[in-house]
Formats: sequence, structure tokens, C-alpha cells
Amino acid sequence: MWRSCAVVVAVLAAVVGFAGRQLIRNPIDFQKVNLAGKHVVVTGATLGIGFETAVALAEWGATLHLPVRSQAKAEALTKQLKSRAPEAKVHVYADFDLADLMSVRKFAKDLRTPVLDVLINNAGVMPVGNVKLDPTVDGMEHAYQVNHLGPFLLSRMLVPALEKARSGARVVFVSSAAHYMGSVDKNIYNTTSKGLKPDTWTSERYGTTKLMNCITAVAYDEHYKAKNIRANCLNPGFVQSDLDSSLPPGVREFSRWFRGLVARETREGAVCSVTVATAPGLNGVGGRYFEDRCADTLCDARKPWHTLLSCFMCDAENPPGVVANSQVRDKALQKWLWVTSSELVGL
Ligand SMILES: NC(=O)c1ccc[n+]([C@@H]2O[C@H](COP(=O)([O-])OP(=O)(O)OC[C@H]3O[C@@H](n4cnc5c(N)ncnc54)[C@H](OP(=O)(O)O)[C@@H]3O)[C@@H](O)[C@H]2O)c1
Repeated sequence: MWRSCAVVVAVLAAVVGFAGRQLIRNPIDFQKVNLAGKHVVVTGATLGIGFETAVALAEWGATLHLPVRSQAKAEALTKQLKSRAPEAKVHVYADFDLADLMSVRKFAKDLRTPVLDVLINNAGVMPVGNVKLDPTVDGMEHAYQVNHLGPFLLSRMLVPALEKARSGARVVFVSSAAHYMGSVDKNIYNTTSKGLKPDTWTSERYGTTKLMNCITAVAYDEHYKAKNIRANCLNPGFVQSDLDSSLPPGVREFSRWFRGLVARETREGAVCSVTVATAPGLNGVGGRYFEDRCADTLCDARKPWHTLLSCFMCDAENPPGVVANSQVRDKALQKWLWVTSSELVGL
């Protein structure tokens, strides 16, 4: 009797798991572009989506510039990358920590190329629930700095190299569908509170920093499009990675199990970043939000259940490729975030 029940439960779990996986995973693949001669910076390339992004770009001929947190991580990354892409042209930089603004400035200064074609702001942390990370050495709330202020500073510091790109440069902000749940509260994210007010210890924090990525992409694009630097943001989908590592024990294990069941393979999680960074069809496109492969395949040519899941935010006002969260299109908020962030990072 028990054995039969166990078999039925196992079969049901397998069926539900498989259906869930097909529903959410939504398999996609890369479309190769020749990147010989292109210089690309990818943050957070030690593992997860960033590593697979770096592998794809290296295989397509780009010269990679990968800033990581320590010398040990730099050595491990170089080895892993060479084992996946033996021909990789790669410079790995140690002691880059988005939670330390001085290290961000140092990396921008040390960059071993005067011309940069692509910057992919991929690195991020996801401390949700009651998880508290210590404030950064710069005195900011941790996720606020790592997910938003650090990438903001980096993207600004690299403008002189980006504006030299012969056929225009692209800056990519890896956001998340969680940005729809975010909301920028000016009482919390300002130059006095620095994101550290108690109310910020909520699940919305991650979504809010990811919303800031989208607002920044739109504002950055507006600022620099005249210099032929175009910026976009994206959601890579629900992807197997180490992103759960800062969740509380128990929740972390559950989240990893669930991800293993339904989320995309890590390699597939890089497709959107790589596409937005390289697709020739996106030349001159900026200030947009992409999910999965890109705008032109987002809401059409998909299986109906994928469309339902991926495009529940799209309607006549919010066509594919346009961020639906109304805060992103709020010009006053764009300006406020730009000015506040500039002041906080010392620009
Ligand atoms: N996985 C998903 O389902 C999903 C969904 C939506 C959006 N995203 C976004 O995708 C991006 C990549 O996430 P992932 O899933 O690949 O996560 P991951 O596996 O945890 O990788 C995160 C990367 O960020 C780096 N990083 C973390 N803190 C850093 C810091 N202070 N300074 C410099 N680098 C730091 C990590 O480097 P270390 O090795 O030093 O820790 C690692 O390379 C994130 O921005 C995330 O918000 C992910």
C-alpha cells in the first residue's frame, strides 16, 4: 500500500515538475554573431548567468574584460573559461567589489583597452525576506549598492572608453521580472538614508534595485545616445544559478530545489544578455526592456502558455520591449534617481 502511494506521488511529482519546467523554462538558444575585435566587460562572470555570458562571447571572438572580487576567483575563472573556450581572449581583474566604490573606480582606471564596445552589468545579489547584509564600506544598504549604485558608477566611469567604440557601444543592465514588484521610495533611497531605513528590510528590496536598473537604463540611454552609446535592460528568465546563496537557510535549500525543478539551464539564462549585447537587429536601439530573446520574439511566435507567462505585462500601451512598470517611464523619477545616485557615488 505505502509502496503504491510512494510510486503515485513520485510519478505525480515528475509530471508536475516536467510540466512546470516546460512552462517556465521556455528553452531558447543563441544566435551567433562574429565579435572579433570587440572588447566587452562582463561583471559577475565567476558563475551563473555571467559565466555563461562570458563563455558565449569568448567563443564568438570577443576580447573579455572580467572584474572579479579576489585573486583566487580570478585564477579559478581564467581556468574555467579556458576549459570551456580554449581560444578565449580574456583579461581578468581582481579586487573588484561593487560593494566598494573605490574598487569600481580602480577597475575603470585599470581597464586594459582604450575602446570598449559592450558593458554588461550582470553581477547582482538577491537578499530577500528578512536577510540583512551589512552596510557596505561606503555606508550604503548592501543590495542597493551592489545591484544599483555600483553598476551606475561603473557605467558612468566607462563612458570615455564606450564613446570611442567605432560602430557604437551597448550597455546592458541585467534586471529581473522582480522589477515589476519594486517601488522607489524617495524617503528610503536618498543621500541621507542610503537605503538603510528599517522599512527596506523587505522582499521588495531586490525588486526595487532591479527597477532601478531599468530606470537607469532608460536615463543612461537618454544621456549618452548622442555619443552613440545605447543602453537597455532585460530579464534573463528564471534561471538555475547561485542567486539563492544569500537567502536564509531552509528557504535557500527550498529555492534551489525549486529552481532545479523548473528553471532554465544556466547557459540558456545567458541568451537574453548576449542577444541584447550583440544582435545586429538591435543596432541603435536603446531605453528598452527585453525578456527572453528580445522584443521581436517576445509576444509573438511563442507557444500560448509561454505568451501568457512572459507577456502578462504587455498590452497596447506596453508593447514588447517597453518596460511596463510605470515608474520606469516617470521622467521626474528618472532625473531624481540619476541626481541622487550621482551624489551617492561621488560624481
Ligand atoms: N537566476 C535568475 O533566475 C535570475 C532572474 C532574474 C534576474 N537575474 C539577475 O541575473 C544576474 C546574475 O545572477 P545569477 O543568477 O547568475 O547569480 P549568481 O549565480 O549568484 O552570480 C552572481 C554574480 O555576481 C557576482 N557578485 C555578487 N556580489 C558581488 C559584488 N559585491 N561585487 C562584484 N561581483 C559580485 C558574483 O561573484 P562572486 O563569485 O564573487 O560571488 C557572481 O559572479 C543578477 O543581476 C540577477 O539579479 C537572475
